[in-house]
Amino acid sequence: MNKSTAPEYIKYIFQGMTLNNARILEVATGAGEHTADICDYVSQTKNISLFSIDNHAISFVLKKKLQQWNHFLTLQKMNMLNLGYPSNHFDIVSTHTTIEALTNGPVTLIIALNELRRVLKKNGFVAITSNYPFIKETDVGNEWSKNRWLFTKIIAHLLYLTHYEEIYPAELKKILQYCGFGQVCMKKFQYHLKSSSFIKQMDLEMNFLNTLLKKVTDSAMKKKLKLEIVNKYESCRRRLCPAVKLPAYYVVKAKKISSRSDHSHLAFSDGMILPLIR
Ligand SMILES: C[S@@+](CC[C@H](N)C(=O)[O-])C[C@H]1O[C@@H](n2cnc3c(N)ncnc32)[C@H](O)[C@@H]1O
Repeated sequence: MNKSTAPEYIKYIFQGMTLNNARILEVATGAGEHTADICDYVSQTKNISLFSIDNHAISFVLKKKLQQWNHFLTLQKMNMLNLGYPSNHFDIVSTHTTIEALTNGPVTLIIALNELRRVLKKNGFVAITSNYPFIKETDVGNEWSKNRWLFTKIIAHLLYLTHYEEIYPAELKKILQYCGFGQVCMKKFQYHLKSSSFIKQMDLEMNFLNTLLKKVTDSAMKKKLKLEIVNKYESCRRRLCPAVKLPAYYVVKAKKISSRSDHSHLAFSDGMILPLIR
């Protein structure tokens, strides 16, 4: 039995899977937190190889942080929409808080899942972890989370030109089936976020945004941006308490199967309908 101290959701991702001799792909590395947890979990396994990719360059700091696992870990700069691996190559693909960072939400997600399916071996597993959607109009009593999520979306849009999108588990399940995955299962996990680490991250991003704001010459635009970002930041910061219990992470797992879904279209909660293209 694996005695790792990895978080519960990591244990759930690999539960029931044979890890000896497995080839695993992680999408996307980011700051390497999830990568480190996976490495820790699989490090005692025989003959494992783990590839972790991100479409941003892998920094020196990140390489150093993860170097203790270099004997089985390979870091590569790659776009998940166009992976440079052969088909039927991996036993497991894991992706953590990345699907919500894909611009154009569900449409890009279909492209991404098709690509993940291509590189997975037959009967291989995909495990998708995401922040449970924070923002719901009816979600009173969760103002802090709601603010944090809104703030994250604004920052992502302004700094990285990406549009964060909540993918609801039911929608993800439907898209997975559409893309040729079966045996879809899901579990939710409570987790704690230390507000101190969130403040640190926000402060860094605010500093960067302030330097960008200085370059905006149109005064009306500058005022609007300031209202949108600085005020949101201040109200967010005021509400922070030492540790907040956020809504669950959800982990969705699914198996690559050979036949595709019989649906003629996909209908989403926002009213969007996508016809099936085969
Ligand atoms: C919210 S971060 C999550 C990072 C990491 N998985 C974690 O949990 O800390 C989203 C990551 O997705 C990466 N990303 C976004 N679009 C991508 C794409 N098309 N291909 C590869 N990586 C992508 C970003 O560079 C970023 O590192």
